[in-house]
Amino acid sequence: MPDIALYFVLDAARTEVRSLLKVRRNGAHDRPLKLDGDELTPLEVRVDGQPLTPDQWAMEGGALIIPLGGEEHEVETLVGLAPQSNSKLMGLYASGGLLCTQCEAEGFRRITFFPDRPDVLSRYSVRLEADKRLYPVLLANGDPVEKGDLPDGRHWARWNDPYPKPCYLFALVAGNLACNADSFTTQSGRNVQLGIWVKEADLPRTAHAMQALKNSMAWDERVYGREYDLDVFNIVAVADFNFGAMENKGLNIFNSRYILADPDTATDLDYDGVEGVVAHEYFHNWSGNRVTCRDWFQLSLKEGFTVFRDQNFSADMGSAAVKRIEDVRVLRAAQFQEDSGPLAHPVRPESYMEISNFYTATIYNKGAELIRMMALMLGPERFRAGTDLYFERHDGEAATCEDFVRAMEEGGGIDLAQFRRWYEQAGTPHVRALLTHDAASGTAELTLEQHMAPTPGQPGKLPMAIPLRVALFDRDSGKSRGDELLMLTQARQSFTFDDFATPPILSINRGFSAPVIIETDRSQADLAFLSGHDDDPFARYEAMQQLMVNVLVGRVGGQMVDDAAVIAAIRDTITDPLLDSAFIAEAVRLPSEAYIGDQLAQVDPDAIHATRDALQYRIGAELESLWRAIHGKTQANAFSLSPAAKGARKLRNMALLYLNASGADDGAAIAFGQFSDADNMTERQAALATLANGTSAEREAALDIFYNRYRDDALTLDKWFQTQAFAFHPDTVDLVEELGRHPDFTLSNPNRVRSLYGAFAGNQWAFHHRSGKGYRMVADCIIALDKINPQTAARLVPPLGRWRRFDEERAAMMRAELQRILSQPGLSRDVTEQASKSLD
Ligand code: PHE
Ligand code: ZN
Repeated sequence: MPDIALYFVLDAARTEVRSLLKVRRNGAHDRPLKLDGDELTPLEVRVDGQPLTPDQWAMEGGALIIPLGGEEHEVETLVGLAPQSNSKLMGLYASGGLLCTQCEAEGFRRITFFPDRPDVLSRYSVRLEADKRLYPVLLANGDPVEKGDLPDGRHWARWNDPYPKPCYLFALVAGNLACNADSFTTQSGRNVQLGIWVKEADLPRTAHAMQALKNSMAWDERVYGREYDLDVFNIVAVADFNFGAMENKGLNIFNSRYILADPDTATDLDYDGVEGVVAHEYFHNWSGNRVTCRDWFQLSLKEGFTVFRDQNFSADMGSAAVKRIEDVRVLRAAQFQEDSGPLAHPVRPESYMEISNFYTATIYNKGAELIRMMALMLGPERFRAGTDLYFERHDGEAATCEDFVRAMEEGGGIDLAQFRRWYEQAGTPHVRALLTHDAASGTAELTLEQHMAPTPGQPGKLPMAIPLRVALFDRDSGKSRGDELLMLTQARQSFTFDDFATPPILSINRGFSAPVIIETDRSQADLAFLSGHDDDPFARYEAMQQLMVNVLVGRVGGQMVDDAAVIAAIRDTITDPLLDSAFIAEAVRLPSEAYIGDQLAQVDPDAIHATRDALQYRIGAELESLWRAIHGKTQANAFSLSPAAKGARKLRNMALLYLNASGADDGAAIAFGQFSDADNMTERQAALATLANGTSAEREAALDIFYNRYRDDALTLDKWFQTQAFAFHPDTVDLVEELGRHPDFTLSNPNRVRSLYGAFAGNQWAFHHRSGKGYRMVADCIIALDKINPQTAARLVPPLGRWRRFDEERAAMMRAELQRILSQPGLSRDVTEQASKSLD
């Protein structure tokens, strides 16, 4: 399909799409032309200008089949669409008065008949026509070429995209939009017009996204030598969107939560999310668009690489140490859980029922870790040589993960034969590390053993190639001998280190160099040493976490474990004048309830909650005066997004949390004070969250004030729902049930659904309420939402699929809900796949 021309006559109730395809027979065969379609009816079919009669074509499972005689033809089809009633948010749909599209992965077939697969690359010419008052702005991919007015208050615009692309990158937007316009000059001197299109009232909230875009464009030139390739780059924010954002060529479409930000409504985390997602979608222009995927099994080719790129960009824009800590926390929370459950799959999957279910933490975040390991093994120069070769060799092509690995091997000069198993084998490797010391010879020996549990369809596993950054600290001097990269390639392997008079202290998987679970028998004293002295910030954070995990896991298991080492380490950390605030806030944060559960053979949500709460109380009470002092430090300067200002807010919020946990009489009053006085959402929401955990009168007051202030601002009202769904409150399960009936709750907006039920299902203590009420509520939501938006419904299923990790009573209730979901007539493929795999 070398060329496609599309003619849209746009209207929310009824849109007409005429498509003209230049079709060329691909190889020597006599099969008919098959054009994918989903919920489409052909109104006209023509071949070389001649209308076909209905007996000259056929429908087969939504697809249009046309027997063709020659080698080349022009095929024309006409279909009618009803964007207004498209609640799946795939294809052409209406959102808040706009018309927009979402095609990845298989949405283009809901717009017109086409071979909807990513290895069919075509040049697009698109003409849009619409009512000029309702839709004054008409956007599509590529460059604008012509526009004009028509009678009856109508107008049109034509866009041409000179770069051949797969149809999943097609996009159009029509609506009444205002533009934050700017420009960027590329390294070769090309001037690019940048536009961020939003509702007029949202214009003041687009500055951060614009800055992030310009920074991304400069960063990709500097770090990868990649320059933008069209005269315009447009971004549109929409309120109803199934995922985060979409990298359509020259016309990125975003969930508005990743564009709009101002101090009054966005937290620092939101600001970082905007920066990271703007960068991610922009980076796809090379890793995804110029080089795309041959088929959807290769999804991580573009997603893993692009996540790696956006992670490094954000690290360069702010604190690299804190960014790594945050990224690892996300990986462990989302991807390690996926890898250890019924939905585990390789980074390059071998089968799927519904591709939308494979936009997972494994494809994205573990995929990024694979690229990170290759970059580590190669070093910056050779890694760059590898990516240069990859882009040069595959520009304009639909490539595979294997193509990427081969470019790394040839461009970087490395053998990745065994490393390829990372793409094939699902599951998280466990590495047991044992350090022994021989006083007579003065040598230390590190023995590493790796092991991977079976995953669905993969009963046995082969050893992986695992790059581990390691350092040994001399016990007497307190100094490390320096960082070394060890390659663990066998099931069991030993490494020897000379010249240690006394047993050294092991720092391993520094920087989280490999996405594995490390098991060591390091003492609390050694962990405490590392938490105060390790010169790798991630390892230092990790030592602190492990100290806490040892106490928590021991106590949940009924052991009396002393918490003195934890409290001393936290005291040392918060009083260390050399540490920056953001790092301190990360280091002193208790591991989540879910993470504690992951360390146990069976999750006991009530015991975990009580144990964690008790340790939080101890840390609060023992160090109360320090928390009070940290919280009392006022910020002299006006709101700023500097790393120092963000770090100060993060630490201040942590201090507020511990101060409240300490049981201090004035805790709620101090939190309410912060809530009322804050000039930014970071402090306001943190105060609200702290109050929401308790049962004070201030809790209700703050929630009411927040609601009344933001009830008309959907993105901020989401925070009101989310904060309550996340709350450590004994009644959360009932409160969430009530919130599901709130007039502002709706199933038609994915952000709202995620902020209530998505957040609730991530609140281990509340979701796993022994009554089973939490399971029933989430299942009810899945069943109701499946009829409206199956993609978003399917994303709520995995928490129910973790039943194997719980006691028999809870497991039985979870299974029963999965069965109830599966028994619904007309259940979508999306939810069917997730629920049936979850029961296996
Ligand atoms: N490709 C998008 C991204 O990662 C994600 C996405 C997938 C968006 C499917 C919409 C639909 O940037
Ligand atoms: Zn992406």
